[in-house]
Amino acid sequence: MGRLDNKVAVITGAGSGVGREHALLLASEGAQVVVNDIGGAADDTVASINANGGKAVSHIGSVSDWNTGDDLVTTALDNFGDLHILINNAGILRDAMSFSMSEQEFDEVIAVHLKGHFVCARAAAIYWRNQSKAGKDSARRMIHTTSESGLFGGPAQSNYASAKGGILTLSLTLGRELAKYGVTTNVVAPRARTGLTDYIQSMAAPESKDQFDVYDPANVSPFVVWLCTDEAKDVNGQAFIVGGSGVWWMRSWSHINHIKLNAQKLSINQIDELKDELFNGEDTGIPAFAAPKFG
Ligand SMILES: NC(=O)c1ccc[n+]([C@@H]2O[C@H](COP(=O)([O-])OP(=O)(O)OC[C@H]3O[C@@H](n4cnc5c(N)ncnc54)[C@H](O)[C@@H]3O)[C@@H](O)[C@H]2O)c1
Repeated sequence: MGRLDNKVAVITGAGSGVGREHALLLASEGAQVVVNDIGGAADDTVASINANGGKAVSHIGSVSDWNTGDDLVTTALDNFGDLHILINNAGILRDAMSFSMSEQEFDEVIAVHLKGHFVCARAAAIYWRNQSKAGKDSARRMIHTTSESGLFGGPAQSNYASAKGGILTLSLTLGRELAKYGVTTNVVAPRARTGLTDYIQSMAAPESKDQFDVYDPANVSPFVVWLCTDEAKDVNGQAFIVGGSGVWWMRSWSHINHIKLNAQKLSINQIDELKDELFNGEDTGIPAFAAPKFG
């Protein structure tokens, strides 16, 4: 028996990298999977799943197209009769420093990541709300994909980091809207060697097959699949860095300190006077890039 028997999942950008590993593990746990990508690699993932006795179909299309969300839900319903899990994963990079970035580089990344996440989430939300209103209750899951750049800000990635930061807030917003329909929504930031990151030398594969491959994209999938199970029903609106042999639970934008008058507008001079009280001797420079050590 699999942990996800009788569940139907849609996963975007699952022709390669982390998404492919998610799709393979979802299927091996019994889920029926719609594998989306922009190219034929989706068919390869489907062939691997079906060859191992799983059930999958491919959907070729860009998540940046408004209609792709509805198409994906329809594909799930036509082939498997329902939808329980949406994993938003598709992604691209167009890195450049802010002072060198073109309009096209900015727009393409926002379109694939931020709009692409919303397009699919919106379509799933429509279906799940209608199901819930029709009295058909079941556990529903959205898992979105951010990055450490989205959590902390990343140089040469003002397009990508903004989109990934937006995805964190999108997930919280979806959580506030959809909890009453049985939907949980969480975000993972993977760290893995894929087509997106294979230029990073520190992520190279170990020389020996006996050594643990810290950056194997398959290391990310168990936690993502766990978030889809009933065990994770109370985990909602959270964010995690996942990879290597660990999971790091992340949370940000918390209230640090405040100054406040009594029903009176603060003047610039009063802010001068109260600033030491507000900052309380703390470091007010750019926050540290607080990424975990994997090794
Ligand atoms: N690998 C990492 O260390 C890392 C770190 C942080 C975040 N991420 C995120 O993880 C996700 C997966 O990336 P990956 O590392 O596996 O890279 P990858 O390049 O191996 O996989 C991304 C997949 O998305 C597909 N894709 C691209 N544009 C698409 C579109 N418009 N519509 C549908 N599919 C599209 C690609 O064809 C590809 O198969 C991305 O969202 C990425 O930003 C990865």
